[in-house]
Amino acid sequence: MSWSDVLEQLKDGPLPHHVGVVMDGNGRWAEQRGLPRGEGHRRGAEAAERLIRLAGGEKLCAHLTLFALSTENWDRPPSEVELLLGLLEEFISRKLEELADAGVRLDVIGQQDRLPLRLRSALSKAEQRTQDNDTLHLHVALSFGGRWAVTEAVRGAVRAARAGELREEQVDEHVVHGLMPTAGIPDVDLLIRTAGEQRISNFLLWESAYAEFYFAPVPWPDFDGAEFVKALETYQGRQRSFGKGSL
Ligand code: IPE
Ligand code: MG
Repeated sequence: MSWSDVLEQLKDGPLPHHVGVVMDGNGRWAEQRGLPRGEGHRRGAEAAERLIRLAGGEKLCAHLTLFALSTENWDRPPSEVELLLGLLEEFISRKLEELADAGVRLDVIGQQDRLPLRLRSALSKAEQRTQDNDTLHLHVALSFGGRWAVTEAVRGAVRAARAGELREEQVDEHVVHGLMPTAGIPDVDLLIRTAGEQRISNFLLWESAYAEFYFAPVPWPDFDGAEFVKALETYQGRQRSFGKGSL
């Protein structure tokens, strides 16, 4: 079957509205080749770009969230964290116009106050530049943690209650999500993690309540279009009952 036939067939089935990706294995990819870890991260950035182009170009999902840096990743050696943030800044400055022209809308979720000022301003410029686009909504989870996001909602609820704007009986799941930094981001339908690890690692905890999980054996730099198609085909083979029993 040709590549375009593969894509056409895929589009005949149900596609996930929101795909979340834990991009893992950059370091191992590099180590297996005797290369510095940074080279793995560089190739990882290319893999991310490839996926954004494919998902957006073929409209394979409406929302794509990439886990670029977790709150725990700050504990890595400072040189590695700097390299990761530097790669992101470079990526934004080099690719922003192309991505914007391709209809990508970018936004960042995470503890932005921990980020270097220059990166923050590059990110907010990218958010502003792309805010009217609607081909693919790309969420970059950066300095992000699912527990942090829930904690932010609790803080917001306490503040609102103190101000007399929220009563206990008004608090439901909808209100909680509305107070989270991920408010407005839909539930994850398909959560992909690469490099064979089978963990959620504090990613989109709230939004992944009923996500289908797909674990790809390949390290992130090797995650190409064919791998994404495999993940989507697997997703299409799943029965989703959302806890309501089989239909
Ligand atoms: C993922 O690759 C990149 C980020 C966490 C940002 P890793 O750096 O975790 O690679 P491994 O797990 O050491 O192979
Ligand atoms: Mg890892």
